[in-house]
Amino acid sequence: MKILVAGAGGMVGRAVVAHCAARGDEVSAFGRQNLDITDRAAVQMVFDRERPGAVINCAAWTNVDGCEFDPVRAYEANARGVEMLARACRVAGAMFVTISTDYVFDGRKEGFYTQRDDPHPISTYGISKLCGERAAQAAHARTTVVRTGWIFGHGGKNFLATVIEQARRGERLTAIEDMYGTPTYADDLAARLRDLAELDLPGVYHIVNSGEGASFAEFARVAVAVSGCEGVEVDGISADSLHRPAPRPRNSRLRCLVSEAVGLAPLADWRDALREFAARQ
Ligand SMILES: NC(=O)c1ccc[n+]([C@@H]2O[C@H](COP(=O)([O-])OP(=O)(O)OC[C@H]3O[C@@H](n4cnc5c(N)ncnc54)[C@H](OP(=O)(O)O)[C@@H]3O)[C@@H](O)[C@H]2O)c1
Repeated sequence: MKILVAGAGGMVGRAVVAHCAARGDEVSAFGRQNLDITDRAAVQMVFDRERPGAVINCAAWTNVDGCEFDPVRAYEANARGVEMLARACRVAGAMFVTISTDYVFDGRKEGFYTQRDDPHPISTYGISKLCGERAAQAAHARTTVVRTGWIFGHGGKNFLATVIEQARRGERLTAIEDMYGTPTYADDLAARLRDLAELDLPGVYHIVNSGEGASFAEFARVAVAVSGCEGVEVDGISADSLHRPAPRPRNSRLRCLVSEAVGLAPLADWRDALREFAARQ
């Protein structure tokens, strides 16, 4: 496939570029420096030159608290930019895969969120991402929206990499005990994003590693154990005690109703994925 990756400098973007290259795709990788998705002229120029068969959009403004203070920037990057890519894909006849988030849900549900649940974001970040989903789907029929959550991957500043670093230094850790999500390994997500580009069956997919999900504290405890740092304590704290500017869903565990029906096997259990991640970290 000839695949264009936007947001190629981010945690997921890097994993997607590596995976597609390993699969033998012709990959055009664009970080923000060479393709700002909010710049209409730049998007057009890149599409005219590259003529991709599929586009995987990993670009987003992912600073959840930052979005709360700058909704215009959040909307530009997470909604208008996504819409522009979708329009460019329509003109180019390209399949469009774009990543959304578990934060489109409010977290009040018990259990897993599926495609049957109405989104109801409670943060500016979540609202901007939902606007991006909807604008892309309205702009281009061949759009696949991938909602995911709690991503851990190599090279990024993510919760899990920080936990493992601190544990290896023997530091006592704190992690939120009363927020639940479905951890997702960036490498597994990257492979699935490519599968979905190839499949060309538009829709909304919930893509996370298998298992019952976890609280941040449990996630951290398993990370400590698999990274060979037994004995390092993880103290559970409440989300409210952090007084963060943006509200987050208390429960944002995802499950997909359609992946298996279209022939996609479940991703590995998140504990196994975490073991693989820790071994390479
Ligand atoms: N990380 C998670 O736990 C998580 C959970 C659910 C969903 N997601 C979604 O997963 C996707 C990938 O996230 P990630 O974790 O890889 O985040 P990330 O590491 O922050 O990567 C996002 C990338 O997008 C780039 N970017 C920002 N604005 C841009 C623009 N206007 N044009 C082009 N590129 C732009 C960023 O560049 P700069 O760094 O230069 O700004 C960064 O390289 C996003 O859609 C995110 O919303 C992430």
